[in-house]
Amino acid sequence: MAVPDRVLTNVELTTMVDTSEEWILQRTGITERRIAGEGETTSTLSLQAARNALEVADMDPAHLDLIIVATVTPDYEFPATACLLQDALGAKEAGAFDLSAGCTGFVYGMALAADLVAGGRYQNALVIGAETLSRITDYTDRTTCILFGDGAGAVVLRASDAPGGVLSSELGADGSGGELLMLPGGGSVNPATSDSVTRRLHFIQMQGRQVFRFATRVMAEASRKALDRAELQVEDVTLFVPHQANDRILQAAARGLGIAEERMFSNLARYGNTSSASIPIALCEAIDQGRIKRDDLIVCVGFGAGLTWAAAAIRWTMPLPAPAPSRRMAVQRSLRYRWARLRSLWRRLWRRIDARLFQILYDREGRRKRRGQRD
Ligand code: ACO
Repeated sequence: MAVPDRVLTNVELTTMVDTSEEWILQRTGITERRIAGEGETTSTLSLQAARNALEVADMDPAHLDLIIVATVTPDYEFPATACLLQDALGAKEAGAFDLSAGCTGFVYGMALAADLVAGGRYQNALVIGAETLSRITDYTDRTTCILFGDGAGAVVLRASDAPGGVLSSELGADGSGGELLMLPGGGSVNPATSDSVTRRLHFIQMQGRQVFRFATRVMAEASRKALDRAELQVEDVTLFVPHQANDRILQAAARGLGIAEERMFSNLARYGNTSSASIPIALCEAIDQGRIKRDDLIVCVGFGAGLTWAAAAIRWTMPLPAPAPSRRMAVQRSLRYRWARLRSLWRRLWRRIDARLFQILYDREGRRKRRGQRD
């Protein structure tokens, strides 16, 4: 995982909008969130998280054959943030694309990657959930700006004959609720104009109460469906790793599943809602805190814009704590990242030289043809 250093506290928010520390804490469970600084973007946070994940997996980026970045705040509309990452990592064998499924994106990405790996064509997939929501948050709107934060989390999925890993998944969507949570500006309906900026269409708009009601319903339903598919029960699950949106949503989901709240992992207080990044960040912290042990069954479950929802049942077969990466591999990886940077610079330079050479040849050919016509 990777989060920016800058912390935005509830106290600070009270100086920005008409709110109070108590209101935010009582209604959401959030005390602070991280905000990307200058130069920090979705791809830079993704890159840090990806490097950390590759280190834990002790894997050379050149062995990746798939990179999926789940995000609603890509660096650009296109190219995909996953492609920027592919270049920065030097993952030259990997296909790369972004996935947009709101806060559910990471579970969608993980389910998709797991099925592609299980299909046999792909061996090693990097799945990242990363956001810089602060760039699309309206800090004059107290109903949304108190919720969101920035960060990234990543996992490496590796083909294996051993039983375990991602056992089943459940993906869902209900587009009729699309307008409940959206970024209206910047697409083909409201392309960017000075008017769209004045009307604040490039910020998140949300009908919080309705999203809240939807969320409390789908979290338990999706988890049960994923477990049913793997012929498992709620009682078999050691820990639920849910999307971190609101503590009251997590409590309602725990009630819906008939489990104690302690079995619903929460780190919401420190990061707020980081959308696609919240589940992988929670997963990392749950592992670091010893809440997930080898062979435990966990369920990652999320909901979000779309509307979408998803759950995945996972048997955690990675050895814990993760073995320290071999020194040789660490040195090799560091050299490879430098090499990747050089390779990227060289490819950009070569593209310019190539374009210039092409232009010279093209002009020369044009002159030759014109001379021929005159003669
Ligand atoms: N400070 C003080 N008062 C506030 C604030 C605030 N920051 N925000 C709203 N209020 C007021 C409202 O104006 C309202 O006042 P009124 O009764 O006079 O009209 C009152 O508090 C209650 O407002 P509600 O919207 O009913 O408050 P609620 O308890 O529902 O909490 C919240 C609002 C926190 C947004 C909640 O609805 C929620 O968490 N919803 C889910 C949001 C979510 O998870 N979104 C992300 C989805 S994931 C993705 O894809 C990004």
